[in-house]
Amino acid sequence: MKILVIYGPNLNLLGKRDPAHYGTRTLSDINDALARKASELKVELATLQSNSEGTLIDFIQEQTDGAAGIIINPGALTHYGLSLRDALADTGLPVIEVHLSNIHARERWRTKSVIAPVARGQISGLGWRGFLAALDLLVQLLEEND
Ligand code: DQA
Repeated sequence: MKILVIYGPNLNLLGKRDPAHYGTRTLSDINDALARKASELKVELATLQSNSEGTLIDFIQEQTDGAAGIIINPGALTHYGLSLRDALADTGLPVIEVHLSNIHARERWRTKSVIAPVARGQISGLGWRGFLAALDLLVQLLEEND
């Protein structure tokens, strides 16, 4: 079973971005933790970070066949990335949206997600552990098919 793990703009700078919102772990720390969890769960990950919406969409389109689900932190595209939203919806795959910070407790413009309506669910505010929880839950949802 292959799961896509996708990170949007500026998430390459984790570790240097405001730790009060995003913690101190780097993207490679998070990917290492996800790789360990994936091997426990016996699933395969295909991972991409990009600062460009088009590159994210190309990856989603290329990887859809053969993928079982998607975990995505869209960065600020969360709030206005309608092409990204359409690309996710077009896959027909279950999507879990993850945010390190609690987007509902920050500036008002961050509280709106254009991705959430096409996601199976959202994890927000639980830091890097949110990605691990998302992987666990997505695999359970796919295996139990409910
Ligand atoms: C974020 C929240 C977004 O509002 C922000 O633009 C990010 C990160 C988060 O993980 O908390 O880049 O998606």
